[in-house]
Amino acid sequence: MAESRDAVKIGLLGCGTIGSGVFHLVRKNAAGLTEAARRPVEVSGILVKAIDEARPFEVDTSIMTTEASSLLDDPGIDVFIEVMGGTEPARSYALEVLGKGRHLVTANKELIARHGRELMEAAVRTDAQVMFEAAVGGGIPIVRPMELSLGGDVVNKILGIVNGTTNYILTRMSAEGSTYAEALAEAQQLGYAEADPSADVEGGDAASKLAILSSIAFKAGITSDQVYREGISRVRPEDLDNAAELGYAVKLLAIAERAEAGVSARVHPTMLPRSHPLASISGNFNAVFVIGESVGDLMFYGQGAGSLPTATAILGDVVNVVRTMGSPPASRRSYWSRPGEVLPMEEVVSRFYMVLNVVDRPGVLAKIAGVFGDNNVSLESVVQKGIGDGAQIVLITHGVAERSFRAATEGLEKLDVVLEIPSVIRVES
Ligand code: NDP
Ligand code: HSE
Repeated sequence: MAESRDAVKIGLLGCGTIGSGVFHLVRKNAAGLTEAARRPVEVSGILVKAIDEARPFEVDTSIMTTEASSLLDDPGIDVFIEVMGGTEPARSYALEVLGKGRHLVTANKELIARHGRELMEAAVRTDAQVMFEAAVGGGIPIVRPMELSLGGDVVNKILGIVNGTTNYILTRMSAEGSTYAEALAEAQQLGYAEADPSADVEGGDAASKLAILSSIAFKAGITSDQVYREGISRVRPEDLDNAAELGYAVKLLAIAERAEAGVSARVHPTMLPRSHPLASISGNFNAVFVIGESVGDLMFYGQGAGSLPTATAILGDVVNVVRTMGSPPASRRSYWSRPGEVLPMEEVVSRFYMVLNVVDRPGVLAKIAGVFGDNNVSLESVVQKGIGDGAQIVLITHGVAERSFRAATEGLEKLDVVLEIPSVIRVES
């Protein structure tokens, strides 16, 4: 039955790829949304930079403004959806909204990963809610399951493909032989990439998402600066071929793990055995593999980027906020105020794939093996590819602390028989 109570008014801060999708779905799915939220929901104002900008979905320009104060000062707006991106002015607007006791829904992972603590604390002061389901994994419900459904378990490991742009690029490069530049341009055109795509390809976007998931999983505020990151721009087509020959797929993985020595959090290209459930995730799809102490293995899968999948996650947050308006928030996330400790990357243990361009003469392999041995790095497989000027050694190590592997790499770079080390990729078991 349709609800007859007054409509909840939404202020949309930003109306690009995601914001126009939100506007579209609020109108298109009005009846279902009203039923789920138990009140009608309407967008009553929209903030943009330029009103006449082209948008993926048709939007009512009569409620658009370029004056932030006309929305932020409107006492009739109950919930603000921030989909502008970046940290300023998004952070200032968010603090203003929460300071006035209004609720905030955001898709902005950078904002939460950098300023989560400040926002959670501001929300607690006024009993407002901060919701950010869309900030991680686009349309995949992952934040609420991690917070609430797994609230009674201990999360030991998270392995995620959490950036749609890079997964799209790697898929296009390996499956269709596209170049890196072609695949990136397509991802931008499809609306997956950030305004500055270096955040995607250099791992910053995934680092923000991992900081958010780690904070929830390990019950402490972990910021994006604490997450080690390497992007995909140095992954070569030859590495994708080598990986396939060796039985692996290359993915940009976000990995957080609770171990005896402490918590690690890192984003880097990773060779995953093709039998791993994450290895087959392709295109703009994301997946997060969670290992809980009691629940065991879980996998969350769906479109990690794009207008309507992400808008769906935002509307899920709106439903939650509207249903619980007037009651204390389901989670105050007080743990976000406890600074989380993250192990230095030098202490993290990984297996490594390495390619060395070498001089093709007897004794080369012995010299290389000697350097690895001197640094306590043991080798799992070694293959020579090519001859003469094209001679290459392709090897995979056993698990080794990053510190020892880096020392071995420095030693190898000093060998006269090693011409270049064009590629190093970590390997996940
Ligand atoms: P867009 O660049 O497409 O849209 C940004 C919108 O915000 C535009 O409407 C822009 O106005 C407006 N805007 C930006 N800065 C200001 C400002 N200072 N004052 C007023 N308006 C401003 O970004 P997306 O929609 O792609 O992304 C929005 C957020 O959602 C980001 O935080 C992003 O990380 C996140 N996200 C994006 C996903 C995606 O697939 N694209 C998926 C999940 C999360 P104008 O239109 O006039 O330029
Ligand atoms: N640029 C992001 C991505 C958007 O490609 O995953 C979704 O957060």
